[in-house]
Amino acid sequence: MKRSSLKIRNGKVAVVGLGNVGLLVARLCASRGYKTKGLDNKRSIVDEVNTTKIENLRATLKPSEALVDANIAVVCVPTTIDKKNRPDLEALKNALLQVSNFMRRGTLVIVESTVPIGAIKEIALPILERSGLRCGADFYLAYCPERVDIGSKNWPLRKIPRVLGTIDPISAKKATQFYASILDSEIVKLGSIKTVELAKLLENSFRELNIAFINELSWVTPRMGASLNEAIKGASTKPFGFMPFFPGPGVGGDCIPTSTLFLLHGLSRAGGSSGLLSLSRSINTRSTLRVIKLVEESMDELGKSPESSVITLLGLSYKESVRDTTGSPALVICDELVRKGYRVKLFDPHVKELSTTKSLEDSVMGSDCVVLTIQRKEFQKLNADYLQRMKVKSIVDCRRQLDGQSLVTRGLIYKSIE
Ligand SMILES: NC(=O)c1ccc[n+]([C@@H]2O[C@H](COP(=O)([O-])OP(=O)(O)OC[C@H]3O[C@@H](n4cnc5c(N)ncnc54)[C@H](O)[C@@H]3O)[C@@H](O)[C@H]2O)c1
Repeated sequence: MKRSSLKIRNGKVAVVGLGNVGLLVARLCASRGYKTKGLDNKRSIVDEVNTTKIENLRATLKPSEALVDANIAVVCVPTTIDKKNRPDLEALKNALLQVSNFMRRGTLVIVESTVPIGAIKEIALPILERSGLRCGADFYLAYCPERVDIGSKNWPLRKIPRVLGTIDPISAKKATQFYASILDSEIVKLGSIKTVELAKLLENSFRELNIAFINELSWVTPRMGASLNEAIKGASTKPFGFMPFFPGPGVGGDCIPTSTLFLLHGLSRAGGSSGLLSLSRSINTRSTLRVIKLVEESMDELGKSPESSVITLLGLSYKESVRDTTGSPALVICDELVRKGYRVKLFDPHVKELSTTKSLEDSVMGSDCVVLTIQRKEFQKLNADYLQRMKVKSIVDCRRQLDGQSLVTRGLIYKSIE
């Protein structure tokens, strides 16, 4: 069927929250011919979108302007955890209240934010029904968690299959029609909203568990005389039943830790727990602190105290394909090194606002220890010749980006996360 025949007639979309997810959703809707308005409470984001001049897309700070004409509202605001590791859904509640204030008969509301199990029915639905309208009769509600892999070229938003859940069949039909009109992928309706909530949390906590397993192995395998990285590559040649995860300096971003803690919260509400998942969270946190241990070992070998040492952290975002520094292991490592008395220089060509030096050369020149937290093509020039020229004394390579053997041969101290 041609997509133009799938487009909801007179469909006008409001996307609430124009961050990593919402902006991509808004752009996609606009590119599919929907008159789209994006609502965000940050002026800088609204100005940036409007300056870019994207056909069919306008951004605004005013809920009335975004929502008054809309018959499809897609909510993409942040959901997170508080200091006590409990779900913090304040942004979601506020966004839904705004939608509820302007909702009219026939509006389709879709939540794409990640939520704890039970949140759509227990929290979102009552807020929307404050409008006086009833779900399934006057307005429609679906939960369709976002799966975008920011920065990935292989998986643009439109190609990623989606799961969705609704309370009533008309909402399911309308939401499926909407997604069919913007995506080139499968849309799978699951039996209940809670099952969709669980599916999203499973996807992310699966990664938490597997990363923790590999990180924990990496603490021991160097003592076994085996290469974990090579073993993972070897195991990956099995065409079924194995998926590669590589060791690193811990897990950053909001998605994985938040989903893990949402799932643990849900299990605890149901009178259960998952020791395995809790342990995985703590192993991944400890993996970040292990990088500091490697720096300290290097400085001990050089006979240098923290106060007399200069450490350079290269790579500040939480993964290579993004600029986002939310929960980035590099920032945790920086705070801890500073707390211990080290002088720390920061550099990331893609995160200029947090870099304390202007160039790679400035950041590494004379450094006692260069810590590479993520892979970046700009860091590939850090070979033995370059590092010797820059008078660098030691390297901690968290992603095994460099040829360690050649550095050791030239007298540099080289430590890596196996
Ligand atoms: N980033 C990812 O890769 C990713 C992937 C899948 C799912 N998710 C989930 O999607 C949701 C959004 O994530 P994100 O990374 O886009 O967050 P983000 O922090 O990048 O963006 C959220 C935006 O919402 C705005 N906002 C907050 N409250 C608002 C309100 N009441 N009205 C209007 N705007 C408001 C903020 O100003 C911000 O610009 C989260 O639940 C996240 O877990 C994120």
